[in-house]
Amino acid sequence: MRVDAVAENLLAWYDKHRRRLPWRTEAGAPPADPYRVWLSEVMLQQTTVAAVKPYFERFTSRWPTVADLAAADAADVMAAWAGLGYYARARNLIACARAVVGDHGGRFPDNEAALRTLPGIGDYSAAAVAAIAFGRRAVVVDANVERVVSRLFAFAGPLPQARPGLRGLVDSITPSDRAGDFAQAMMDLGSGICSVRSPQCLICPLSDGCAARTSGNPEAWPVKALKRAKPQRRGTAYWIEHDGRVWLIRRPTKGLLGGMRALPSGPWSDTDPGLIDAPAPADWRDVGNVAHVFTHFALDLRVMTAALGHVPGDDGEWWPIDRIEEAGLPTLFARAATRAIASRDSIGRDDG
Ligand code: ADE
Repeated sequence: MRVDAVAENLLAWYDKHRRRLPWRTEAGAPPADPYRVWLSEVMLQQTTVAAVKPYFERFTSRWPTVADLAAADAADVMAAWAGLGYYARARNLIACARAVVGDHGGRFPDNEAALRTLPGIGDYSAAAVAAIAFGRRAVVVDANVERVVSRLFAFAGPLPQARPGLRGLVDSITPSDRAGDFAQAMMDLGSGICSVRSPQCLICPLSDGCAARTSGNPEAWPVKALKRAKPQRRGTAYWIEHDGRVWLIRRPTKGLLGGMRALPSGPWSDTDPGLIDAPAPADWRDVGNVAHVFTHFALDLRVMTAALGHVPGDDGEWWPIDRIEEAGLPTLFARAATRAIASRDSIGRDDG
């Protein structure tokens, strides 16, 4: 297939089959609001469309403009983000909204280079916002796009090392007109048709020129380098209860789950820490483990519960257990809380 025929076929397909998503505008409508495009792109990094949709709706109802978000209390934004993961994104979200208001008069810059200077906006988001919100020609490459292009060209280089080569190929097929639609069309194709395990070549608008389809085994792309197993870490989280409340701390701003509310837990290490970091001596009860996979390691977190009549530290708060969903706990600690609550009926309660 000619290089410009790729964009032509793909855009014709997109005009008929695009997904209707809350951050998109209809064909022919004015360009999307850069605030909504930026917010959606930040949320969609490492996170599925299905998971993002309700968060996007909640954020845009609560903070309809970048100025509203910039003026928000950071703790409210962090709590509203809880469950989406990769919490550095939420901290950068606040910093970026404040920079747009403070340094750019409340308007997002309209080109990739200036966008890239904002907190949390890297190559991918700068290209996506420039293309989708401002109609700039930009080369937008996410995992879906990588898969489509590596198949189209039967690209042999293993990921992630071969990423620059793949980017060059995306560049070669990106049109100067409708680059934003082109990028989103590639994403829709990657998620709906050119899927990881069962690509639907029979209904694919690019099948005529696709080298992977010709090979008969399109699932073999993208070629991946062998992965090392993630290191396994262990930790203990402490559910301390008093008078219908649980003791929650806020994690240090820097580091994993930084700035989020959490159960107290010691450092996560290679060996089982047992009760070494227990916030206080108590009759600790083991209510089971919660497994969680982070980007760089897997964690096995033991959950210990106890009733305690006194405050176990300076930095924390007693949170009503019947309103635990409102605490904005990240998924790991929300699951630990669920486990502790499920075991509560058999705890000897301290009625204080
Ligand atoms: N993933 C990342 N950005 C996206 C977008 N704009 N539409 C659909 N999926 C996406």
